[in-house]
Amino acid sequence: MSIHNTVKRVTTHVLSEMKLKGEKIAMLTSYDYSMASIVDKAGIDVILVGDSASNVMAGFETTLPITLDNMIYHAASVVRAAKRALVVVDMPFGTYQGNSKEALSSAIRIMKETGAHAVKLEGGAEIAESIERILSAGIPVMGHLGLTPQSIHKFGTYVVRAREEEEAKRLKSDARLLEEAGAFAIVLEKIPAVLAGEVAESISIPTIGIGAGNKVDGQVLVIHDMLGINQEFSPRFLRRYHNLYQEITGAVQAYIKDVRSHDFPNEKEQY
Ligand code: KIV
Repeated sequence: MSIHNTVKRVTTHVLSEMKLKGEKIAMLTSYDYSMASIVDKAGIDVILVGDSASNVMAGFETTLPITLDNMIYHAASVVRAAKRALVVVDMPFGTYQGNSKEALSSAIRIMKETGAHAVKLEGGAEIAESIERILSAGIPVMGHLGLTPQSIHKFGTYVVRAREEEEAKRLKSDARLLEEAGAFAIVLEKIPAVLAGEVAESISIPTIGIGAGNKVDGQVLVIHDMLGINQEFSPRFLRRYHNLYQEITGAVQAYIKDVRSHDFPNEKEQY
């Protein structure tokens, strides 16, 4: 029987067993209790409380403005809903880069105040000290390489990363560094599929792709994008499983019509 059918609670150990057995890992974002409850009951393996909340929940253009307090609020709501999935929380911009002591205290706040199971940080060698310090406190770390949206002002664009040999080499060495440091998995965002496959094969920890092809060990999407709530964002890697924007618009318009026409509430809908 497949591992995902037998476990009551997904742990970092379960994910590494899934990689060993060649079972793909399914990960989605959630930011609130109601959505996380649906996603968890549907059987997702990992819920990421992504700092994409900055875009899809708060309406900012980038992930930079979201604060540690904001992330803790979202993560605590998700944790209350997640009975089976592993919950991973993004450490927001400015809470771990350049100061490993601050990185550890930010990670400790996330774990203590939300009850989440792990944190995710963007970057490789440049944040190695922060990763090691967080891991030394027994907090599981997920890495994130390739397109790292917190560095958008350095890149200047959201195009595919690591197409050039030099950047690809650096990404491979960062992946090995994260594995050796003790990270339990790595997100690979928007890099060539061949490169992502080579990374997945060269390290023993699971790689979870977004715009990284299907040779990786699992996939992640932002839930608002895959449900079609967010209409403006349509990169090539995104598969839309629904058109909730249209569904919700239709429902809201029907409600407005019913209120205006005195149809709602009717006799049976009042006391
Ligand atoms: O914040 C986020 O949603 C993410 C995913 C895109 C991997 O980091």
